[in-house]
Amino acid sequence: MTRARSRFGPLAAVASKAPAFDIDQLLDDPSTGIIVCCGSGGVGKTTTSAALALRAAERGREVVVLTIDPARRLAQSMGIEELDNTPRPVTGIDPGAGGSLDAMMLDMKRTFDEVVESQASPQKAKQILENPFYIALSSSFAGTQEYMAMEKLGQIHQDAQSTGDYDLIIVDTPPSRSALDFLDAPERLSSFLDGRFIRLLLAPARGPARMMTAGVGLITNALTKVLGAQVLRDMQTFVQAFDTLFGGFRQRAQKTFELLQADGTAFLVIAAPEPDALREAAYFVERLSEDRMPLAGLVVNRASPAPIGDLSADEAMAASARLRKQAPTAVAGGLLRLHADRTRLVEREAQLRDRFAAAHPTVPTAVVPALAGDVHDLAGLRRVGELLAEG
Ligand SMILES: Nc1ncnc2c1ncn2[C@@H]1O[C@H](COP(=O)(O)OP(=O)(O)OP(=O)(O)O)[C@@H](O)[C@H]1O
Ligand SMILES: [Mg+2]
Repeated sequence: MTRARSRFGPLAAVASKAPAFDIDQLLDDPSTGIIVCCGSGGVGKTTTSAALALRAAERGREVVVLTIDPARRLAQSMGIEELDNTPRPVTGIDPGAGGSLDAMMLDMKRTFDEVVESQASPQKAKQILENPFYIALSSSFAGTQEYMAMEKLGQIHQDAQSTGDYDLIIVDTPPSRSALDFLDAPERLSSFLDGRFIRLLLAPARGPARMMTAGVGLITNALTKVLGAQVLRDMQTFVQAFDTLFGGFRQRAQKTFELLQADGTAFLVIAAPEPDALREAAYFVERLSEDRMPLAGLVVNRASPAPIGDLSADEAMAASARLRKQAPTAVAGGLLRLHADRTRLVEREAQLRDRFAAAHPTVPTAVVPALAGDVHDLAGLRRVGELLAEG
């Protein structure tokens, strides 16, 4: 995978020092069981997950892709605009190599509900599911989406183990600001659900803790004023009902975390060719190694395509200046300038990638150029898949 490869074609001019990322080798390797696409907001996680899934399926793997909030048109073209929380076959793929593709879009609330139902007695589950505090938490709490993405991955993996339906699971991650949220949020949410904080606030003053809870009582009073007595009561009922479930929740999250550390898992970090995104990607790469999670490589998405021809930026600028003197109205002068700007942008992006490669010299990198329009159908995904494989 870290084999260096000479580059030809349109990206030849911007080859960087990073080892090439052999995507097809990763997809074809039968020991690759899970691929997780991470990255900061809007860099192309959903597009890359879907493109990899389609490519793997058309190369013969039995794939399921779990997407999170795909753009409407993309969801439509994959037949997953309906939220039913189960994978459905994608039509229109080439089954020639014997593979298959199922896809689904995460329904965060439904996933949460299902976990509650599987962990509690029907009566208790009902009590929790109807609790207004639970409803707010399961539909909007920051971190719930990350937690539920992991939960769903755990479920799909377990089902796949027993039915043998899939041999590759590709997971998109939520549109968090930071890629790290995917790893951090479940822990944050579980310590919240753990209820230590809430319990402290709601604890009646008794025994030796009275001195401490006297202060807490003041806070509770203040909270009652701010939130209202009903909300506080809802929280209290929720915490009481959830208390016995908590162990189960934590255990499941722990199992999924272990799954992410397993050998068959491969993380892909997606980044835009911009300083912030690449810095973020670098943090993420370091974090994966701290958490002993296997990184497969970096995808620099939406790179500026290299202009055609081998005229350098300086040459183009000089020619443009000369032309401007001789023929101030000539269109060619403007075009030369444009060529120079484009070339500089491409060089700048290559420098950014080199900086990343210098800090992380072993991370294989693929560069996907920006396509002219959005990627919203199977043909677009296929094209992104090809570009990913070309590196
Ligand atoms: N290589 C590309 N060329 C052109 N358009 C692209 C490319 N990659 C992604 N896009 C477009 O960029 C937009 C954002 O991509 P995408 O939804 O995959 O990002 P994301 O990382 O999943 O975003 P979010 O963090 O919001 O979930 C989409 O409209 C997609 O079609
Ligand atoms: Mg997305």
